[in-house]
Amino acid sequence: MTDTTAEPANPLLTLDGVTAGYGAGLILKGVDLTVAAGRVTCLIGPNGSGKSTTLKTISGLLKPNSGTVTFRGEDISRLSARERLLRGIVHVPQDRSLFPAMTVRENVEMGGYVLRDRRLIAERWEHIAASFPLVADRAGAHAGSLSGGEQKTVEIARTLMLDPVLILLDEPSIGLDPKSRVAVFRSVADLAAAGRSVLLVEQNARSGLAVSHTGVVLEGGRVALTGTGADLLSDPEVGRLYLGAAARPAPPSASSLPSPAGDRTRQD
Ligand SMILES: Nc1ncnc2c1ncn2[C@@H]1O[C@H](COP(=O)(O)OP(=O)(O)O)[C@@H](O)[C@H]1O
Ligand SMILES: [Mg+2]
Repeated sequence: MTDTTAEPANPLLTLDGVTAGYGAGLILKGVDLTVAAGRVTCLIGPNGSGKSTTLKTISGLLKPNSGTVTFRGEDISRLSARERLLRGIVHVPQDRSLFPAMTVRENVEMGGYVLRDRRLIAERWEHIAASFPLVADRAGAHAGSLSGGEQKTVEIARTLMLDPVLILLDEPSIGLDPKSRVAVFRSVADLAAAGRSVLLVEQNARSGLAVSHTGVVLEGGRVALTGTGADLLSDPEVGRLYLGAAARPAPPSASSLPSPAGDRTRQD
């Protein structure tokens, strides 16, 4: 297929020949990847291909062995996770990360702990509560009492506490029932509509690509394919490898995907 998005006009983040791993073994074997500003980029690929590892090298949980991670023109490869957080890179890991015994509001406010500015935190809380009805409605509930899908929505909402420049979402829909998955993808589509820059990792490739401007396929620690979300959705090879399998286990979700993003990719 034609690679129409190799060099986005407005690169926010670039990975250039990034290798990384855990101990002796290399998992990323030279990842070249660009994330455009104000866009949603979806990273898909088989289990174990290095998607989560890629996100970790961006947020600083893992340092690359070689290659560079460039963010807004700055080489951030050697910076700590905290330094990257302060630059606006926020990572929502695959596992649940709310404090279950704290309320939804306390959890969201915790997202701003590095700000050390109570007035700013209160202002941002108001903005988040206005943008996410669930957060406003359940503000006083213990996070642990929310469903998995609701907790994921709160985790996504919490990222806005830092007015992030880049949001990394690792498999936000994993383990959720079809209805909750739709709600989570709607939150991603809302971030896109608000012009946020998102790098989304998704096993649920069809739904992920449908809310994304750009799709990237990772295989064996390298980028195998890049295209628009719509291109990858219609690519027979991608369909055979990733979309058929993703569509099979949960047929009800396919018909209930958020329509605005689906419409948008068709218009692209
Ligand atoms: N903390 C870790 N320590 C050792 N190996 C790991 C660790 N995390 C992931 N791996 C290994 O790295 C490979 C890639 O993992 P990962 O990036 O999580 O893949 P993906 O997210 O694409 O499923 C897998 O083989 C996995 O077992
Ligand atoms: Mg993963």
